[in-house]
Amino acid sequence: MSTALEREARSVLQGNWREGERGGVPYAFTCPSVPRYRHQWHWDSCLHAVAWLRHDAARAREELRTVARAARPDGFIPHTVFWDHPARWRRRPLYATAGLRGSRETETIGPPLLAWAWERVGRGDPAFVAEGLPVLRRHLEWLRRERDLTGDGLLTLVLPDESGIDDSPRFDAVYGRMAHHRPGHVRLVLRFARAGWRAAAYAARHDEHLQDVWLSTAYAMSLHAMARMDPAGPWAARAAAVERALVERCYDGDEAIFWDLAGAARRPVRVATWSGLAPALLPGVPEGVRHRVLERQLGDPARFGAPVGVPSVSMAEPSFRPGFDAWRVWRGPSWVNATWLLAGAARELGHAAPWADGLAIAAAREGLREYYHPLTGRGLGARRFGWSALAAELSRA
Ligand code: GLC
Repeated sequence: MSTALEREARSVLQGNWREGERGGVPYAFTCPSVPRYRHQWHWDSCLHAVAWLRHDAARAREELRTVARAARPDGFIPHTVFWDHPARWRRRPLYATAGLRGSRETETIGPPLLAWAWERVGRGDPAFVAEGLPVLRRHLEWLRRERDLTGDGLLTLVLPDESGIDDSPRFDAVYGRMAHHRPGHVRLVLRFARAGWRAAAYAARHDEHLQDVWLSTAYAMSLHAMARMDPAGPWAARAAAVERALVERCYDGDEAIFWDLAGAARRPVRVATWSGLAPALLPGVPEGVRHRVLERQLGDPARFGAPVGVPSVSMAEPSFRPGFDAWRVWRGPSWVNATWLLAGAARELGHAAPWADGLAIAAAREGLREYYHPLTGRGLGARRFGWSALAAELSRA
């Protein structure tokens, strides 16, 4: 473990820390990066909290409490919350807010990692765990009611950025001109607004939506964590159902990867991105499948086996672009969060993860950037990026 990287992680987390009060509600969170990402994002905050654990456990708890405070009474938790800076109007279509001005949060969800993070931060702290249970229960029930449209545990996303993987090429064919990085995206946001931001109402009218492998994996991770915090609840059975659906419906045994399912017909979206590897994180996915996915994808230098991190898109995809793109993200570079998650699973299953060490080395050299070139390690995108603090935990060296 590099202590220089550890110091850099602490400095970024501290520098990006924001706290205050909005309308009598206190907030405290780490913003991902200034000036580009000033707000609070659900999954960023969950990963920040885990990174904070090594430096200041009280801040880890406060960050998660702030995510929970943004929950609505019905259990909806927004993808992005504008605590101390309003969403500027130009970004409004990207943020999917209810009004043109004055909205305090998006109407969209993000990868639901809150219960997963809450359990990690709450280890050895039963009072903190007990404090979280009511809101976590409501949130997990909301996801099941509002986003499990087929009843088998797979979650539907309407806007691509609900997966956190905004411009991934796996959305290109499904959304066409309405993809996140194209001007037609505004139309998609308006359609969702007209459906009252309800996925079922939207899906009854439009076919541009998908059952997302990463979103569903994050949900299962949270369900497993919830089962440990609230053993009497239905959570373990629900986690198992998600895992079963992922394996039965999304897994392609020939390719050793999981595909998202598009539209009402549940068409497999055969574009290989890191999201298709994510179910290897899940304990209830058969071990043989987890091994095969990791070996086949990360062990192959023509697919995901790059020297630096896990590329966000397979190097075998025609859409793979390893460098910086001013308009689009998640189309090739390696991100610390995905690499950190997959490194945990790979090592747990006894695989070497040289790509994780490669990313730690790049982060030590280049600073905590938003993402990195998977072949050269060059740091790209935003600087002093919050969840890249997890790079300090990547290296076994
Ligand atoms: C970008 C990323 C998204 C992240 C956000 C804040 O939009 O694509 O995943 O949550 O930035 O860091």
